[in-house]
Amino acid sequence: MLDCSALPKAELHVHIEGTFEPEMVFEFARRNEIALPYGSVAELRDRYRFTDLGSFLEVYYANMAVLRTERDFRELATAYLRRCVAQGVRRAEIFFDPQAHTSRGVPLRTVVDGLVQALEAVPEVSAELILCFLRDQPVAAAEQTLRLAEPMLDRIIGVGLDSAEVGHPPQEFAPVFERARALGLRTVAHAGEEGPPSYVREALDSLGVERIDHGIRALEDAGLVARLRADRTPLTVCPLSNVRLGCVPDLAAHPLPRMLDEGLMVTLNSDDPAYFGGYVAENFTAVGAAFDLTETQLRELAANSLRASFLEESARAELLAEPIP
Ligand code: ADE
Ligand code: ZN
Repeated sequence: MLDCSALPKAELHVHIEGTFEPEMVFEFARRNEIALPYGSVAELRDRYRFTDLGSFLEVYYANMAVLRTERDFRELATAYLRRCVAQGVRRAEIFFDPQAHTSRGVPLRTVVDGLVQALEAVPEVSAELILCFLRDQPVAAAEQTLRLAEPMLDRIIGVGLDSAEVGHPPQEFAPVFERARALGLRTVAHAGEEGPPSYVREALDSLGVERIDHGIRALEDAGLVARLRADRTPLTVCPLSNVRLGCVPDLAAHPLPRMLDEGLMVTLNSDDPAYFGGYVAENFTAVGAAFDLTETQLRELAANSLRASFLEESARAELLAEPIP
């Protein structure tokens, strides 16, 4: 089988806080002198049996308690970007959750400076930051976060919408997305992961997003599928995440083959790789094996990720022209 790490690709759906490996959680806890509610890495890993998005988010936010300094954010993102180099990721558009840090008293400047230092430390990867609003927090908190971020927008390429989906329809965030667009930011949103297809429609119509993160439940609405196909709207699909969060019963039941049959603009991504058992290349390898995908299909999925990225046209063309071993 094709070595999926050799395919030049972009990762368009990864939460930097979701790359926080358990060993690193313990290391940062020790040096920041913060007590963890688990005795060992093994005990922490034992908590990684999730039943749904909510059960994952609980551990995900709890572990962030030990992320405190610029150095923490720099080391976290540097470790992820080194993995990118090893996995053929030429471009990474990285989500971060400012509200999960500012609410704990960590200044936004600390987070952004640490992350930017990592981007500069690994120049082999073209990487950018996407600031995500937490949809289960008040809209006013998202607006406040965008205001706080305004002096740092030279280092932020776009905004997204994440956290607990069901009960938090995209529409509520229309004003803050409008403001973000007026500031020249690109826009994406999680929709149709656990939430209904109507949230995907709302993300497109009310927020005007350019890509949908996940979008697997769009398949339940034939009219929406036709629209996504016609508009070539990229869907940043995360198969291992969907399995681990119970969005699908197992990998064999994942809708990826149907999405490809429908002619949708699908990309493969890792979401929160430290929690879901694989980085982006492992997502490629897993679906390749589960669905017997051809080399051509795997190459096309990798090329889609570059096409769907926010890279400038000339840089995109250069990466798409790269010879594949
Ligand atoms: N934050 C981190 N991972 C997420 C996911 N899979 N869905 C929504 N919010 C998230
Ligand atoms: Zn996500």
